[in-house]
Amino acid sequence: MAEVLVTGGTGTLGRAVVAALLSRGHLVRVLSRRGGESSPGAADADGPRTVRGDLASGAGLTEAVAGTEAIVHCASATGTLRRRTQREVDVAGTRRLAAAARAASRPHLVYPSIVGIDGLPLAYYRTKSAAETEVERSELPWTILRATQFHDLLLMALGGLHRGPLLFLPRGFRFQPVDAGEVGERLAELVDAGPGGRVGDLGGPEELSADEIAERYLGARGGSRPWIVRVAVPGRMARAVRGGGLLCRGCAAGAVSFGDFVGRAL
Ligand SMILES: NC(=O)c1ccc[n+]([C@@H]2O[C@H](COP(=O)([O-])OP(=O)(O)OC[C@H]3O[C@@H](n4cnc5c(N)ncnc54)[C@H](OP(=O)(O)O)[C@@H]3O)[C@@H](O)[C@H]2O)c1
Repeated sequence: MAEVLVTGGTGTLGRAVVAALLSRGHLVRVLSRRGGESSPGAADADGPRTVRGDLASGAGLTEAVAGTEAIVHCASATGTLRRRTQREVDVAGTRRLAAAARAASRPHLVYPSIVGIDGLPLAYYRTKSAAETEVERSELPWTILRATQFHDLLLMALGGLHRGPLLFLPRGFRFQPVDAGEVGERLAELVDAGPGGRVGDLGGPEELSADEIAERYLGARGGSRPWIVRVAVPGRMARAVRGGGLLCRGCAAGAVSFGDFVGRAL
């Protein structure tokens, strides 16, 4: 049986994709810079096999794509603000992955992207947009799904904004966070559906202000409440976020709310 490769299968979204593919009966292979083997061997139905590789250098990509029917390409240089690394991993790395796939079994390339990347002046979003172009020009059968911010990302951001007795909140920011598990399910569904091009966006069930997000976070966390400090964030990016640039009003929506998520996570 042909396998599905999940790049970034160790990350937040990738782990959800792996779980969803396994529950649909796929054999799954994960590309990671850590651990694993330098060649894939055979996957089994109980869990994914890890193939060691790196999109930045191209190491391991030929082995990772060999014999696959689809690739869900979740890997991204999310851990750095260095634009050069982001472009090397996300843009050049996608090009390297596509070249390896073209030379192999020409699998269906499924790519998760982000709602609003065309309109928001953020270097990472420009990188995502360029990576989407790599997918579209890959000469492979492809599907792109854009999703809004994951609940995990907002929870992590809140952790950074909560300093001792103070919680800093960007005034007027609006989000529509979605559950990474539901995005993973949708990507697995898209693998089974076959190449679909740019499919409809996926968002969360609620549009929430930064204050509403903080309320749900503080409610789930319990304990003493911090002083809320509302910050008027300057700049074009902040203006775009206040203006709803991260939202996908009217798009398909997941069912798991941010409140549900933090209730479970904290
Ligand atoms: N987070 C969000 O709110 C959000 C929303 C919409 C779309 N997305 C998109 O969803 C995708 C996954 O995001 P995430 O938040 O799940 O990311 P994440 O948890 O930070 O995981 C990033 C993954 O990328 C892999 N990776 C990084 N550099 C690599 C390299 N040079 N070679 C190979 N693998 C590399 C890492 O694997 P190893 O460390 O094991 O090598 C890791 O599994 C990204 O494309 C992101 O743009 C994210």
